Amino acid sequence: MPSEPANSNGVKDEIELVGLGPENSNGSAMLERADVEGYACNGDGTYLGAGEKVLDECAVELEHIRKTYNLEGRDEQVVALKEINICHESEIYPIMKGEFLILRGPSGGGKTTLLNMIGCIDNPTSGVLRLFGDKITAETSDSYLAKLRLAKIGFVFQTFNLLATMSAFENVELPMTLLGVLNKKQRQKRAVELLTTVGLWDRMDHLPSELSGGEQQRVAIARALANKPELLLLDEPTGDLDTRNTIDVMDILLDINLKQRTTLVMVTHNPDIECYADRVLYLQDGQCVKQALNESQCRLEFTKYMDFLNSKQADP
Ligand SMILES: Nc1ncnc2c1ncn2[C@@H]1O[C@H](COP(=O)(O)OP(=O)(O)OP(=O)(O)O)[C@@H](O)[C@H]1O
Ligand SMILES: [Mg+2]
Repeated sequence: MPSEPANSNGVKDEIELVGLGPENSNGSAMLERADVEGYACNGDGTYLGAGEKVLDECAVELEHIRKTYNLEGRDEQVVALKEINICHESEIYPIMKGEFLILRGPSGGGKTTLLNMIGCIDNPTSGVLRLFGDKITAETSDSYLAKLRLAKIGFVFQTFNLLATMSAFENVELPMTLLGVLNKKQRQKRAVELLTTVGLWDRMDHLPSELSGGEQQRVAIARALANKPELLLLDEPTGDLDTRNTIDVMDILLDINLKQRTTLVMVTHNPDIECYADRVLYLQDGQCVKQALNESQCRLEFTKYMDFLNSKQADP
């Protein structure tokens, strides 16, 4: 059983939970409001999620992770991640199985770099990453990481990254074909189920270019879920979407998180959708500067949210 953080007060009652969401979000004030005193550790290696959620299994741990990029042809380096500790020994506790974690912070702060480390798309320069108990370092082989990604991790990028010459159905079927676990009939059944879940049962034969931005993003989510990943990583999945589609996509993600207990790590610049998360981590200058623990995971309601946005515009 992992140990409690050394200097933790370790008591659930002493944790300050905050109600995240549009009524509470006003840009930079968010960072102050989100300052959380104490730890979410229950004292026995389990942690507090939003509402009644108890998080009792570690999914991802990062210890002393650093990432430095060498600039090609120049004797210059960029430090993208300075020292990331998201682990039992840190105030910023590990990403737990079934948790919905949102990453926020200023542009260039290291959010995408961190997501790429967690997803094994890129290797850390130093430090240790533990994914589902597996230790991953700079020396771990590419072929091992490729298998791990395919079987356990789903990715959703802001720009969808769908294959242009394949239909929505074929895009969703592809990861299952590559993994090679299901036969053709099983794959087809699952692709239909997934596209139905994201509300696209009548768009299966469409090419990406024949779909709206919100629809393409939903295909990307269905594709990321194809191999039943334990971990879903999303980089600004609502960045290019209007309000209606943002809410639709967030509602789908919350359903996946709650019904299938899939662990979600999502980057966003939109403070109003923090209310969907268990926890929000703020990254700045390659470091985790704060975390906020949500009181309860909740959905935005379209009409109420539009009223809120309109009132903000009228009275900035
Ligand atoms: N391949 C690369 N080579 C060199 N520097 C890089 C590379 N990728 C990222 N960086 C640098 O690392 C830092 C972190 O970048 P990152 O993309 O993680 O930021 P971000 O928080 O995702 O920003 P944004 O919100 O704008 O997407 C930035 O200073 C960026 O310029
Ligand atoms: Mg980014």
